[in-house]
Amino acid sequence: ELTDITALLLSRIRDVPDYPEPGVMFKDITPLLADPAAFTALTDALAALATDAGATKIVGLEARGFILGAPVAVRAGLGFIPVRKAGKLPGATLSQAYDLEYGSAEIEVHAEDLTAGDRVLVVDDVLATGGTAEASIQLIRRAGAEVAGLAVLMELGFLGGRARLEPALAGAPLEAL
Ligand code: PRP
Repeated sequence: ELTDITALLLSRIRDVPDYPEPGVMFKDITPLLADPAAFTALTDALAALATDAGATKIVGLEARGFILGAPVAVRAGLGFIPVRKAGKLPGATLSQAYDLEYGSAEIEVHAEDLTAGDRVLVVDDVLATGGTAEASIQLIRRAGAEVAGLAVLMELGFLGGRARLEPALAGAPLEAL
């Protein structure tokens, strides 16, 4: 059954060559989002991971992690917490900077959204270098919450994100559908 779901999901991800720049093969999930059977299968699979991990909250990473994470939270009966790019959240925030290939980026979460006793499943579409996920894990820990795991639709294995995240995850599962 897992094989059927994987095949369905794969069939709804479009490879776009040379986007956003030459030499990059972009993984476009919009066909999957437009197909209710595929989007529902993905949501159900991620919600099952959240339940198995004993998660109490879902964190979604801007922007595609919002699209995937929000229905997972609803399906699993959990709250959804957005981790946003810097400057978008109106309340008191925790911020975490991280390095990009050129320059750096910063993500934020509302400090009051995560507390001690929370077990957080992080949801995103793609694990690439792991920089964004690593920074989100640091944010969750700094808020005093526990990381229940990281669940992504796709892992780009050749970029080494899984190895990079090993110390940060500290034994919490990394699941790539
Ligand atoms: C993409 C993707 C992940 C991140 C993965 O988001 O959705 O969040 O990059 O890359 P990494 O593992 O190398 O950190 P992007 O920054 O393009 O933002 P978007 O979803 O708002 O387009």
